[in-house]
Amino acid sequence: MASSMSDQQFIKSFTIFLILGVILTLFLIAMGIVNAGTITQRVQDERNALAATGSTNTLAPVGQMNVGTVSAPAAQPVQVAAASIDGAQVYQGACMACHAAGIAGAPRTGDKAAWAERIAQGADTLYTHAIGGFQGKAGVMPAKGGNAALSDDEVKAAVDHMVAQSQ
Ligand code: HEC
Repeated sequence: MASSMSDQQFIKSFTIFLILGVILTLFLIAMGIVNAGTITQRVQDERNALAATGSTNTLAPVGQMNVGTVSAPAAQPVQVAAASIDGAQVYQGACMACHAAGIAGAPRTGDKAAWAERIAQGADTLYTHAIGGFQGKAGVMPAKGGNAALSDDEVKAAVDHMVAQSQ
């Protein structure tokens, strides 16, 4: 049986094969240990470096996707432009009580005769009298029609509305 391996030969080859396998395994394990050591060392170094920079965020991601800044809308003071104030609405809320019917000597809105002379004083005077109050011959115009919560611009818008209705 020259062509087939003898048992002895087989055992010999198998033993060599086994030994080689063990050596290879040991080699790989050793490599692994060395590598692991290196990696551990690298992580340690990195941490130390981070600590040295004073950064406390050691868990910060290496990269960050920038999806644009979402800035919270800055708190802006509510500015009501004079143009956006509804003079008619202010008038209805604060001025109509006296000026619609002409109560207590108030010039009635729409009464052109009653308003002609007042309008002739100029808008600034009307504004001043409406905002600051006004004691005239006919009666007392309370400051802002008695509604102190109104802004000057709101009162002006109401005056504009009244004047527009009365000329
Ligand atoms: C409590 C009643 C009353 C209310 C409310 C009132 N007014 Fe008058 N207003 C008067 C009287 C009275 C006069 C007339 C005073 C005078 O000429 O003797 C007057 C006069 C005016 C005049 C004319 C001023 C001038 O120079 O001739 C304007 C403008 C005016 N009011 C605007 C307003 C506006 C705007 C409001 C609402 C924000 C308002 N009033 C609310 C009573 C009122």
